[in-house]
Amino acid sequence: MKFFVDTADINEIRDLASTGLLDGVTTNPTLVAKSGKQFIPLIEEICGVVDGPVSAEVAATDYDTMRKEADKLSKIAKNIAVKVPLTPAGLKVCKELSDKGVMTNVTLCFSPAQALLAAKAGATFISPFVGRLDDIAHDGMQLIADIVSIYDNYPQFETEVLVASVRHPMHIVEAAKIGAHVATCPADVIKKLYNHPLTDKGLAAFVDDWKKTGQSIL
Ligand code: E4P
Repeated sequence: MKFFVDTADINEIRDLASTGLLDGVTTNPTLVAKSGKQFIPLIEEICGVVDGPVSAEVAATDYDTMRKEADKLSKIAKNIAVKVPLTPAGLKVCKELSDKGVMTNVTLCFSPAQALLAAKAGATFISPFVGRLDDIAHDGMQLIADIVSIYDNYPQFETEVLVASVRHPMHIVEAAKIGAHVATCPADVIKKLYNHPLTDKGLAAFVDDWKKTGQSIL
């Protein structure tokens, strides 16, 4: 499973990139607003830090403007994935970009039917939002299972399932069990994956016992 970080905070991105475990970045207008930075230079900076796909989202909702924005974003770097909403205009832009060989990420997916359309539009990634579904008492992970199963029925679909709106480590574990290709997560959720109290307890015992030997490896 690939790990993307869902943030527009360049320090978080640099920090996670240094672990060697980061495969890409997703941003959205809310995250960009939170960063307080200018969008285009920010995306350029992120693309300089991460080699994998960097999702940059269009702001327009009408086809003509969206297409122009998508063209501009796609020229920022080779690893840009243009993020478009799951609307008729968004999928039309997605199909055109995909035909040109530009990576795309179709966002705001909340149903298997929508995911089917995105695959037919040639999306590189489909982003189903599990946390936002859980928030309204729907089963977000069932949506992931449904999409993976539908895509498996059609080997010609190359769209990768990018689990979005991840809230906690079990979202990642469950999505990995289902076989989703990617999870995009807030940095703190990725860091929580390291944690286990038995690891901490075991390490403390090993450190203490090693001191008793009076030895040094170096
Ligand atoms: C995905 O690309 C989105 O940026 C993101 O995962 C949305 O998550 P949220 O529901 O926590 O805002």
